[in-house]
Amino acid sequence: MTPVDLTGWNTALDAHNLTPAFINDLTGDPYDHPATARTEIRRANDTIPFIYRTAIADHTEVSSWADRLITTTREQTTGRIVPTIGRHRSLLLLGPTGVGKTHQAYGTLRYLAPTGIRTAWTATSSADLYAALRPRAGVDSESEFRRYAHAPLLLVDDLGAAKSSEWTEEINFRLVNHRYENQLPTIFTSNVLPKELADRVGDRVSSRLIEMCDRVVIQGTDRRRQAAA
Ligand SMILES: Nc1ncnc2c1ncn2[C@@H]1O[C@H](COP(=O)(O)OP(=O)(O)OP(=O)(O)O)[C@@H](O)[C@H]1O
Ligand SMILES: [Mg+2]
Repeated sequence: MTPVDLTGWNTALDAHNLTPAFINDLTGDPYDHPATARTEIRRANDTIPFIYRTAIADHTEVSSWADRLITTTREQTTGRIVPTIGRHRSLLLLGPTGVGKTHQAYGTLRYLAPTGIRTAWTATSSADLYAALRPRAGVDSESEFRRYAHAPLLLVDDLGAAKSSEWTEEINFRLVNHRYENQLPTIFTSNVLPKELADRVGDRVSSRLIEMCDRVVIQGTDRRRQAAA
């Protein structure tokens, strides 16, 4: 048991009234709140892409979704040693290029990290997902697919961004349908307009997304261009 690096975590800790001293209190219990939080924070520090490593879910509708996820998880897992993410509604972040969808998505994973909940999240962009699932020698694509389909919490960035083919449509459908049927919380981002969604991902995927997701449209201008100006 070692302390975790809490650089960049003040806002996320403050949001839950937690302190660095609480998180790095090495009690010796591997299942208590601080130990679970340290594991989650360490994973976020190690694997979230560099530019999102201090991201905060500062959009109120996004943090409200995360708050509902926290409440439901605690209710569903009362009495369990470690609260673990179960069934919940998903989140669909829409908006044009550069407004901060991916930032909010990783910000949400970071927002959840100190709460003492085991999230076991998996994150991918849809392009990386297709690359990981492309049939090739030595890789069991079905077991790769299950890694994403069964993840307790999944981030699928840039849904509908790539030019679609029958094969990518089938992957999208199978993934969304599995998450839909099992009510597994998923954070989707897409830079299509709400009215274009069906055109981009097909009727059957978009119908399921509309039912299973809280939809948040992020407004604004391209922050990358703003930063460059
Ligand atoms: N709330 C925020 N506070 C500070 N920086 C932000 C915020 N939101 C986004 N950014 C920064 O703005 C840039 C664009 O954000 P991001 O990559 O999340 O956009 P996006 O909507 O996902 O774009 P795309 O559609 O191209 O994927 C990044 O450099 C990101 O770090
Ligand atoms: Mg993005």
